[in-house]
Amino acid sequence: MKKSIVLGITGSIAAYKAAELTSMLVKKGYEVYVIMTQAATKFVTPLTLQTLSQHPVYVEMFDSPQSWEIGHISLAQRADVVLVAPATANFIAKLAAGLADDLLSATLLATRAPVIIAPAMNVGMYENPIFQKSMQFLKEQGYFFVEPDEGRLACGTTGKGRLAELDKIVSALEEIFSAKHELSGKHVLVTAGPTREPIDPVRFLSNYSSGKMGYAIAQEARERGARVTLVSGPCHLEPPAGVDLIPVETAQEMFDAVIKHFDTADVVIKAAAVADFRPRQRAAEKIKKDEAVMTLELERTPDILQHLGDNKRDQVLVGFAAETENIVENARAKLKRKNLDLLVANDLTEEGAGFGVDTNVATLFFPDGTTVKLPKMTKRELARAIIDQVIKLLTTKKRMV
Ligand code: PMT
Repeated sequence: MKKSIVLGITGSIAAYKAAELTSMLVKKGYEVYVIMTQAATKFVTPLTLQTLSQHPVYVEMFDSPQSWEIGHISLAQRADVVLVAPATANFIAKLAAGLADDLLSATLLATRAPVIIAPAMNVGMYENPIFQKSMQFLKEQGYFFVEPDEGRLACGTTGKGRLAELDKIVSALEEIFSAKHELSGKHVLVTAGPTREPIDPVRFLSNYSSGKMGYAIAQEARERGARVTLVSGPCHLEPPAGVDLIPVETAQEMFDAVIKHFDTADVVIKAAAVADFRPRQRAAEKIKKDEAVMTLELERTPDILQHLGDNKRDQVLVGFAAETENIVENARAKLKRKNLDLLVANDLTEEGAGFGVDTNVATLFFPDGTTVKLPKMTKRELARAIIDQVIKLLTTKKRMV
C-alpha cells in the first residue's frame, strides 16, 4: 500500500517550492494530501497543488461537505507522516502553543503520525530567541526539524532561514519510513569532537578528534527514533537532521551542557575526546615569544564521565577509551572506575582506527566481563553496533515499553 503524506504549506515565499516538493513525492510513489493555510494560497494556488498531487487541496476547516468527509481528523489519521514545508515562524509558534484555529494546525494537533517541520523565514525571525524557544520546545516533544539553509533570503538579507534543499527534506522523510524506531520515546545524549582549552586569545590545547564517531552515533540514534541531544566540540561536520546540537568549546562548557541534560537522558554516549588538562591561567593578551623556552602550567579538566558514573540513576552510560597500550587492562579498569554499562575501546595502534578517519577498530567491554571484538568497520557501522547494544542494555534494565 502506498504511504500517505499530509503536506502542510504555510504562507512563506518558499511556498512555491512546495509545488516541486509535491511533484517529487508523487514521482516517488507517495500519496500526497495537501493542506494549505489561507496565507499560503497568496503565494501558490490550490489548483497547482491539486494538479500535482492529484487530490483535492484543503484550506478551510469547514468549506464543503465533500472535504468535511476527510476533514482534519481523518487527514490526521490517514497520514503516515505529516510534513510542513515551508513552515513560517507564526505557524511554528502556534503549534508550540497548541493552537488549532485552521485546518492545518488542527490536523497537526490531532495527528499521532511523525511530524517533520521545514522552517523558512527571515534570519532575524529565525534567530529571535522566542522562535528558537518554540522550536526547541517542539523538538523536545519529538517533532523532527529539517533546519533551514544559509544563503540569500527573499527579503534581500543573507543568513540562515532559507527553506532547506528539497532533497534534504525528502531524505528526512525517507529516513522516518525506513527507520526501525526502537528508541522512540528515549532521550539519547551524545558527546562528540575535541575540546579546546585556551592558552591566550589566539592559542589553545586540543586534539585530532574530527567528531565523526560521535556524529555517526547521534545520527544512528536519531534514525532509530530517539530524541537526540548532541553536545559537540568544534568540528566541521553538518549535524544530522533532527538532532539538537549544542556547540561547546572547552571541557568545562561540555561538562555544564552534559550535566544540564543528564537528568532527562535515558542513554549517554561519550565519544568526545575531552582534553584532560587545561592551562591553569588563560593569558588575557597574546603571549609574546620573548623567551627561548616557556613553561605552561596545566591543571586537570573536570572528568565528565566519572561525574556521570558517580551520579547516574538508571541511565545507560557508554564511555569510550582511546588506548595505545594494555588495551584490555586499561579498558576493564576504566569500565569499573567510571561505573559504565559499556566501554568502547578503540585500538589506536590499528590502521584505520581512532581519530579523523572514517573507520574504526573497537572492542566492546561489559561489566559482567564479556567482550565483543569487532573487525574494522565504518564509524556508521560501529555506531549501529553500539546502538544495538544500548537497546539490549535498556531492555535488560526493563525500561523499554
Ligand atoms: O572524533 P573522531 O575523529 O571520529 O575520533 C573518534 C575518537 C577516537 C575521538 C573516539 O572514538 C574516542 O575514542 N573518544 C574518546 C577519546 C578519549 O578521550 O578517550 P579517553 O580514554 O581519554 O577518555 C575516556 C572517556 O572519558 C571518554 O568517553 C571521554 O569522553 C571521557 N572523558 C575524558 C576526559 C574528561 N575530562 N572527561 C571525560 O568525560
